[in-house]
Amino acid sequence: MKQTTEQLFAINFAGEPAHYAFAPGRIEFIGNHTDYNGGLVMGAAVTEGITVAVSLRDDDRIQIVSDAGDLVEIRLGNYTPLEGSNSWTNYPIGVTKVMTDAGMQTPTGYNMAVTSTLPAGAGMSSSAAFELATARALAALYGFETDTAGFARIGRKAENEFVGMPCGILDQGVSAFGKADHLVKINCATETFAVEPMPSGAHFWIFNSNKKHALVDSAYADRFRECHEALAQLQLKHPDAKTLSCICPEQLEAVKDELDPLLYRRAAHIVGENARVREVETALAENDLRAVGEVLNTSHESSRVNFENSIEELDTLVDLLKLQANVFGARLTGGGFGGAVMALTDSEFGQVHADVIAAAFEAKHNLKPSIFHTRAGDGAQLLS
Ligand code: GLA
Repeated sequence: MKQTTEQLFAINFAGEPAHYAFAPGRIEFIGNHTDYNGGLVMGAAVTEGITVAVSLRDDDRIQIVSDAGDLVEIRLGNYTPLEGSNSWTNYPIGVTKVMTDAGMQTPTGYNMAVTSTLPAGAGMSSSAAFELATARALAALYGFETDTAGFARIGRKAENEFVGMPCGILDQGVSAFGKADHLVKINCATETFAVEPMPSGAHFWIFNSNKKHALVDSAYADRFRECHEALAQLQLKHPDAKTLSCICPEQLEAVKDELDPLLYRRAAHIVGENARVREVETALAENDLRAVGEVLNTSHESSRVNFENSIEELDTLVDLLKLQANVFGARLTGGGFGGAVMALTDSEFGQVHADVIAAAFEAKHNLKPSIFHTRAGDGAQLLS
């Protein structure tokens, strides 16, 4: 039986927590790698996430303990990213630094206990959940004010500047703006956030391949760089295009032969994904889940061929899922290079179907996938 946040806090610290905050992980629904390319993306917060309990200390220390690691102590103001087994504290410390730089006063340090219900390494962004839960809790503890978008930006800044991952706003935006039974839609060019209802009768199933890819971070950074190189080549013809998302499919096709072939494929993925977000919006408005599913499948195919951020194990999962009549569509969710596949299913899809897929996957890859059924949940919030 896992410890509750309250128990973990009580074992490690004196006194009661002053505040509890929760933030969810996320599913990327459609719009892969569009966020740092100024594009469109839709996601859903899940019901699983990270809970933190915090209290003020009377000295200049920060102590953080998690249900998965040791207790780590940091001196207030001494904010440099850690490497090795304590590097998980870079998320809350990065957030502490960003908020301090933005004017948060911290006369004394804090205690923090953190617990997670998110499956580790499933590509559901436990990092963004940790950042958002920390930001909510510290804002309450030190009297710092901002709005929901402000919290999302704090989390992203911590990730970009402290953790060193050049991600866009998707993970933090969805964790911040999530709403039960709703999708979160983000226009990353203007950083505007909206929610729209999930169609009734649609379900999310997550199939985590459990395949660890050693170079996820550097592969992500490579794609980030390649997208910017593709943009630089396209700007020779379209100097007004500020991001890849300003380029439409026709414009891209018109200059195909002048682009480096690899950069063309990277750009084709981003330009295609933006178009697919719009197609999904239209299909959702018409409640046409079959059409939504087709677009999800096409998105995965583009990841496989154009963006090369899929891996064989994820392709197997998508292929197996596509054979199931109760599955509308499936695609990798998140950065890729390992992680998980998301399937959009009808309400008849159940554990029996999931087990058949798991067995076929295991027979092929000698690896047990972790599977769970989740739904769209609420965004980051102060619990008390
Ligand atoms: C990761 C990043 C996000 C986004 C996705 C791909 O989850 O953290 O910002 O780029 O990959 O869409």
